[in-house]
Amino acid sequence: MCGIVGYCGYRSAAEVLLSGLKRLEYRGYDSAGIGLGDGKSLDVYKTKGKIKDLREHVPQEASGIIGIGHTRWATHGGVTDINAHPHMDTDKKIAVVHNGIIENYMPLKEMLIGEGYKFISETDSEVLIHLISKFYTGDLEKAVKEALMLVKGTYGIIAFHKDNPDQLVGARNGSPLVLGIGEDEMFLASDVSALVAYTKRVVYFEDHEVVTISKTDYSTSNIDNEAINKEVENISWELEEMEKGGYDFFMLKEIHEQSQSVPRAYQGRIDEEMATAKLGGLNMTSRELLDVERVKIVAAGTSYHAGLVAALQMESMARIPCSVELASEFRYRNPVVEKNTLYFALSQSGETIDTLYAMREIQRKGGRCLGVCNVVGSTIPRESDGGVYLHSGPEIAVASTKAFTSQITALYLFTLNMARMRDLSTEGGLRFIKALKELPIQLEKALGDSEHIQALAKKYAKYPHFLFLGRGINYPVALEGALKLKEVSYIHAEGYSAAEIKHGPIALINEETPSLFLVADDHLKEKVISNMKEIKARDGMVIAVAVEGDKEVAGIADDVIYVPRVDPAFNPFVMSIPLQLFSYYCAIELGRDVDQPRNLAKSVTVE
Ligand code: G6P
Repeated sequence: MCGIVGYCGYRSAAEVLLSGLKRLEYRGYDSAGIGLGDGKSLDVYKTKGKIKDLREHVPQEASGIIGIGHTRWATHGGVTDINAHPHMDTDKKIAVVHNGIIENYMPLKEMLIGEGYKFISETDSEVLIHLISKFYTGDLEKAVKEALMLVKGTYGIIAFHKDNPDQLVGARNGSPLVLGIGEDEMFLASDVSALVAYTKRVVYFEDHEVVTISKTDYSTSNIDNEAINKEVENISWELEEMEKGGYDFFMLKEIHEQSQSVPRAYQGRIDEEMATAKLGGLNMTSRELLDVERVKIVAAGTSYHAGLVAALQMESMARIPCSVELASEFRYRNPVVEKNTLYFALSQSGETIDTLYAMREIQRKGGRCLGVCNVVGSTIPRESDGGVYLHSGPEIAVASTKAFTSQITALYLFTLNMARMRDLSTEGGLRFIKALKELPIQLEKALGDSEHIQALAKKYAKYPHFLFLGRGINYPVALEGALKLKEVSYIHAEGYSAAEIKHGPIALINEETPSLFLVADDHLKEKVISNMKEIKARDGMVIAVAVEGDKEVAGIADDVIYVPRVDPAFNPFVMSIPLQLFSYYCAIELGRDVDQPRNLAKSVTVE
């Protein structure tokens, strides 16, 4: 949540900050601001709304070679100009931007008010600026460290002082921070997307680390004032990957990328000779993998649904009991961490705080936790005991699409490996690999039906409620379909096991509530068809996603979307495509802000 950016160099700081914030906007987009310095003045411009609104607030002639910026997802205090960042001290000499939550801000605020400091916003973040100002005696880095010593909570911050136009101080705890190293210029940001237009050389920070930059140099230390050496890494993402590339919205682009992003998750990881998968990053020997008796996945949102799909496959193919739990619940219920259980933290961004903290809880109790993430260098992969990168390329739309199918792919590779170590035959392994390699073509086919799905969206977007129903491995796909529809179109949708509707949800069926059924050609098909008939018998509307050529389903449903025939384990891939497209086109039909739906943020770094 919230994006922060800082610049120190020779370019117009305003331009660098505004373009950086635009790329960080998916992290939060209810208000934004920048602070600019040139050694003589410190000017802050901030406003409710998006980066385009902020751009209109910043005068053309705004000067400054140093500055900081912020795009907000409100936690403490409403969405107002005053609550937007940067915050300044009373003398308007120091400015700070903050991402995270200061949990002990109330006692700190009372203490500072008692000392005569005046607060003007309702934010928790404002205590930071007054603390820094209180400790400032000419050395900003020292003041920042002293202030942070008193703070409990999470922060990614950047601060600068009006009198020093060649110094920014950044620090992190729980909220991400990365340094970008340029030629005669340096950048700080919440993530690399804000920097990639300028440099590929970056340094990632760990918790309690502090960085001070000038335009030509940087120094790193920890909050206890010990100097530390940090490795410089290279970003692999290209700028073009962060552009819409001719599509109207990132979400549509990312849906269509899946025929390329899925193979990127398995390429170089398949061993045809041994009919298995090889995942070098797991950091586990075969003997250790053989000792694994259970697998547990912790995740949030769409990642949770991807975990549910993979868990069902793991249990049926690798014969390993596998369960999935919402990371937010797991970490607070004093979970039992078992010796022979292997844990996975599944997260596109690698920054979701609930998932990160669940992983830390597992590790604290001595468990081994692997990360399955997309964003290289993010916190979960860096702190995990090993893992797998998705290589999906940047996912920018707030609603996750391509990461979902890549997450399943990555976990399927692990499943294949485990299954081949247990009782899956060579033939079985090869069959699975063949089906996996056919996926890009099948996904292309599924994507080819978008005009038909757009027409259905036109017909159905007016309905206020939806049920998404599936069974077996497609039950989590139904959950994901419902999540996608509510996220981007704001239509109320519920995902259920088709078998469960008779236990309650069928009471919702009326002329305003269509049901979307996932009807795979598998051992549960006849059961799902019976559930469809139960809805039709009550005059409910039914849309079915069925396997190409299935006339029986077409005879029952009001509308059918056909997907290519695939091995049953791969139905979640082809069935999720029409659901993503349906949500997208319903959102378009209703004029929604598809890439940045109301109240949401992509990277949820607060609890
Ligand atoms: C947010 C996003 C979702 C995402 C979830 C988990 O809520 O809006 O799209 O699925 O976080 O994110 P992660 O990065 O951990 O997969």
